[in-house]
Amino acid sequence: MHVPEQRELPARDVVVVGGGIVGLSVAWRAARAGLTVTVLDPSPGDGATHAAAGMLAAVTEADFGEEHLTRLNLASAARWPAFAADLAAASGQDVGLQRRGTLAVAYDRDDLAVLRRVLALHRRWGLASAEVPVAEARRREPFLGPRLAGAALVDGDRAVDPRAVHAALTRALVHADGRAGSRAGGGALVRRAAVRLEQDHAGRVVAVHDDAGGRHTAGAVVLATGTPRDDTLLDGVPGVRLPVRPVKGLTLRLDAGPGLTPEHVVRGIVQGRPVYVVPRPAGTGTGPGSGPEHREVVVGATSDERPDDRRAEAGSVFSLLRDARALVPGLDEAALVDVTPRARPATPDNLPLIGATAVPGLLAATGHGRNGVLLAPLTADAVLAALTDGGVPLRLPADAPADLLGAADPRRFATTTRRAPEGAPA
Ligand code: GLY
Repeated sequence: MHVPEQRELPARDVVVVGGGIVGLSVAWRAARAGLTVTVLDPSPGDGATHAAAGMLAAVTEADFGEEHLTRLNLASAARWPAFAADLAAASGQDVGLQRRGTLAVAYDRDDLAVLRRVLALHRRWGLASAEVPVAEARRREPFLGPRLAGAALVDGDRAVDPRAVHAALTRALVHADGRAGSRAGGGALVRRAAVRLEQDHAGRVVAVHDDAGGRHTAGAVVLATGTPRDDTLLDGVPGVRLPVRPVKGLTLRLDAGPGLTPEHVVRGIVQGRPVYVVPRPAGTGTGPGSGPEHREVVVGATSDERPDDRRAEAGSVFSLLRDARALVPGLDEAALVDVTPRARPATPDNLPLIGATAVPGLLAATGHGRNGVLLAPLTADAVLAALTDGGVPLRLPADAPADLLGAADPRRFATTTRRAPEGAPA
């Protein structure tokens, strides 16, 4: 095996491993706060970020038994308008924040029963949603299909374009000079894979080694690796467990001509199957024959407990399109331009892993499951507060639970497992 010669790279305050939307958000916020930051990723943004539809869906993602996750999602959703505006100003690029809200619809009577159970959950948790007659939903959104049994409005659930956000973060990061002004460097994105974490004699993580022999000395290392193809990075670091499992999802991108797409995000239940349709603004369409009035429309998503094999099963594509066109029949005329299978990084309790680990100098920002795009601003602010020991305080909404971030503490899984004696049952 060829072992590359070691090269010493400039010391940084922070090295972020993983350049998806979460890793780049952490890195950009840190660089803006005056820290020097390197992000390591061989193909930045090619994981879950590439597939994500970008729904900021704190309410319509709220699920039974996941109230704490919903509170985290709400706190991050509240940050998105300012985050999007800052990012657009820093990068000069629009990130496609859609403000029209979401329509949640039910296809048949059984689907309506499910929708009503979910709306009752919203009421119990104080979330803003309201059932409306289908005629009212259709008045707001004339592109809804003719056969719907029920509808609800969720005005607070919006969307952004994750690929545009990622491009803007990349640009903002490498142009960040830091607010402190006195420190050179800001941010750098290095397209290499992290292969080893180096600890000092006291166990503190002090450097990251990359696959080209680069040694990146770091004041702190943030793991934002999502579902890495090679997850051996923590093998030599006892005391840290970041249990992330892949949940495969498939999204489709369509190019829709003028007059074919809804203005709202439409989420539906179609004979028991969830599906969503996320329209982007005019001018976002791609593919042959696209024009300035065309839009990208994202249809998603499957959800399978299995690894990221990058295969788009024909049956999954078929059923997503069948269900999406039941809600928005005009999609029949759109062109299918992109089919993207990727895995979401999910944890055993479906809560993310955000903040300090049990190992000094090592932090986590991963495990965001279905909510990586939504949770990026809150994650970035929480990690920055931890990196600066509260020097940049984490401000939360007045009604947020006191232990809001406590439930995302990466140390909750950090029980040290002792090796069983030889011959003992596993
Ligand atoms: N946030 C929607 C999904 O993961 O499919």
